[in-house]
Amino acid sequence: MRVLVIGSGGREHCLAWKIAQSPRLKKLYCTPGNPGIASVADCVDITSDDIGSLCNFALKEKVDFTVVGPEVPLVAGLVDRFQANGLRAFGPTKKAALLEGSKAFSKTLMRKYGIPSAEFRIFSEITPAKRHIECINGSLVVKVDGLAGGKGSFVCKSPEEALKAVDLIMREKVFGPAGERVIIEEYLEGEEVSIMALTNGKSIIPLEPVQDHKALYEGDKGPNTGGMGAYTPVPKFTQELSIKVEKEILVPTVHAMKREGRPFKGVLYVGLMLTAAGPRVLEYNVRFGDPETQPLLMRLQGDFLSLLLATVEGRLEKVEYGWDPRAALCVVIASAGYPGNYEKGKEIKGLEALSGAEDLMVFHAGTALRQKKVVTTGGRILGVTALGKDLPEAQKKAYSAAEKISFDGAYYRKDIGWRAIARLGARG
Ligand code: AMP
Ligand code: GLY
Repeated sequence: MRVLVIGSGGREHCLAWKIAQSPRLKKLYCTPGNPGIASVADCVDITSDDIGSLCNFALKEKVDFTVVGPEVPLVAGLVDRFQANGLRAFGPTKKAALLEGSKAFSKTLMRKYGIPSAEFRIFSEITPAKRHIECINGSLVVKVDGLAGGKGSFVCKSPEEALKAVDLIMREKVFGPAGERVIIEEYLEGEEVSIMALTNGKSIIPLEPVQDHKALYEGDKGPNTGGMGAYTPVPKFTQELSIKVEKEILVPTVHAMKREGRPFKGVLYVGLMLTAAGPRVLEYNVRFGDPETQPLLMRLQGDFLSLLLATVEGRLEKVEYGWDPRAALCVVIASAGYPGNYEKGKEIKGLEALSGAEDLMVFHAGTALRQKKVVTTGGRILGVTALGKDLPEAQKKAYSAAEKISFDGAYYRKDIGWRAIARLGARG
């Protein structure tokens, strides 16, 4: 089978690495890919938003199956275009991808179908949005309606902060048209967990829970990022919670999308807040999480390519797979300045010594090759991901590997997994 992976981040390196292990694979391409992905796939320089060129490439190379990493091409209708050309692709159509493409859409859907989430209001003008903030006079979350690369949600502890966020989005228009509407929602207290589920629009297979650390600094403080590290399993996410989430959130969401004439196929990512009153949806994504996918797929046992194919072919019931009982933990090494401005082109040292290490993968996220040297080219640079017999061991292994990597301005959080590890410590 000839497979194409679209994207160039840590998620795509991980997807390509896992697909490359499939006995069904004949040829693997990745567009545009990165130097890490180049060790398992042929990288071809087509950007993820150039849907026309991607489609022509897939036709020319007789690609049997395409796996889309990032949200932008999904929301722009890549899957529809591929399907119209007789090509199979993993991911939702444009209509279904609106679940991530518009928070106004997803919040309204949740309200309509009784899916538990934060209370909210939608505004398309500044003055009423500000008036609402002044009335609430407490903690709030201000969100950009459209895609914002994980940077469009502002958790505001005071009305002043919320007013500033509204100005940034609607007056300064830093998110462009994505910020034409804002969602102002209730602040929820609790611990977060990411649930990804494979679905063909009817059956649903929830994958193992993962906890991401979105905040930039230790202790989950500071500005939100795309994710600074993640681990699985999540001891806090009990079997009881898992059943509840499937019944009250996953099944109703898939059902709601079908009822709305937007049947969802692909991977449904639900970002949850585990509040004292029960799990609440913070956001939906219509693709694999990044970095969540990195520790998740380290634990997946079985043929991942077959699992993805079974999803699009509607044979989910028949597919065999399992989970490594060990824990996996990923530490993201980022450039200084991320998620704001950062410098590029810094040489990365220490990668070779780690290649081939057992139960360890250094997934490339923002790297490029310049004069045969691997250099930084993004905000999040690498995902150092380790398996261990338990979370403390996986954490130790990931950090001892991360310490061996260096580049000018490298930054990573030192406490990935802290909540679960503190809980284990309290118990034992
Ligand atoms: P979102 O873009 O909706 O995924 O939000 C990004 C991050 O902001 C989440 O992962 C949470 O850390 C935080 N967040 C979003 N909505 C809320 C909320 N209603 N209450 C508290 N934190 C939130
Ligand atoms: N790590 C969060 C996301 O993939 O959206």
